Amino acid sequence: MKRTPLIAGNWKMHLTEAQAVTLARKLLWGLTRLPAGGVEVLLCPPFTALSSLHKLLISDPIRLGGQNMHASTQGAFTGEISPLMLAEFCQYVILGHSERRALFQETDEDINLKARSAVQHGLVPILCVGETLAERQAGRAETIIYAQLMAGLQQVGIHRGSQLVIAYEPVWAIGTGQTATPEVVNQLIAATIRPALVRLFGEPVGQAIRVLYGGSVNAGNAVVFLSQPEIDGALVGGASLDSDAFLAIVSAAL
Ligand code: PGA
Repeated sequence: MKRTPLIAGNWKMHLTEAQAVTLARKLLWGLTRLPAGGVEVLLCPPFTALSSLHKLLISDPIRLGGQNMHASTQGAFTGEISPLMLAEFCQYVILGHSERRALFQETDEDINLKARSAVQHGLVPILCVGETLAERQAGRAETIIYAQLMAGLQQVGIHRGSQLVIAYEPVWAIGTGQTATPEVVNQLIAATIRPALVRLFGEPVGQAIRVLYGGSVNAGNAVVFLSQPEIDGALVGGASLDSDAFLAIVSAAL
């Protein structure tokens, strides 16, 4: 099945609003020099930059996403952002990133509530799953990932593959410069992630959901990951803050 590649930049807690606009302008300029179409480009800046980037990109195909959200639409939740607020500016939202799981104690149940809410509000969740080094060494990577998918996606009411994206991000490969082997990632998606998606959503929808790889993707290694048949794109952290590197990763997907 043909799935349009998605290259997503997760800017994490980097860049002021002014710096974010500068980087987005460089990316816009660079993208106009690449062949149009064939790859979807997504930026996930800090919340404070969303409004400005939305204005900047209004007539451009670059998509915007949040890095997290609360499951409720509004309420007394100091410091949180609701799906309604994100939906003003964004098409996507990253959920269950390993930094949220490890540093902010998010559970599969929390992530599931968020995913259900995101879909209800027309946002496409990018659900992140992945094993720690200890889990991989214990031979439990597949079990952990399958369980994260089943728990995170229960009762998430999607009807089309375009309503959900999965990002497989081995925790030990994030921000470390170590990457998983492209063939191993390809195999893990084919043997574990795709069957879980088909089980949850049925054959046509499950086959159409894009599965990204994330973890130390850079300009040098992107092409080998993106040439794997089961890898439909990349969730890029560190390298997405460098316009040349990010543009090279986008080119690798073309
Ligand atoms: P990295 O981060 O590319 O810096 O490893 C990826 C991510 O956390 O999504």
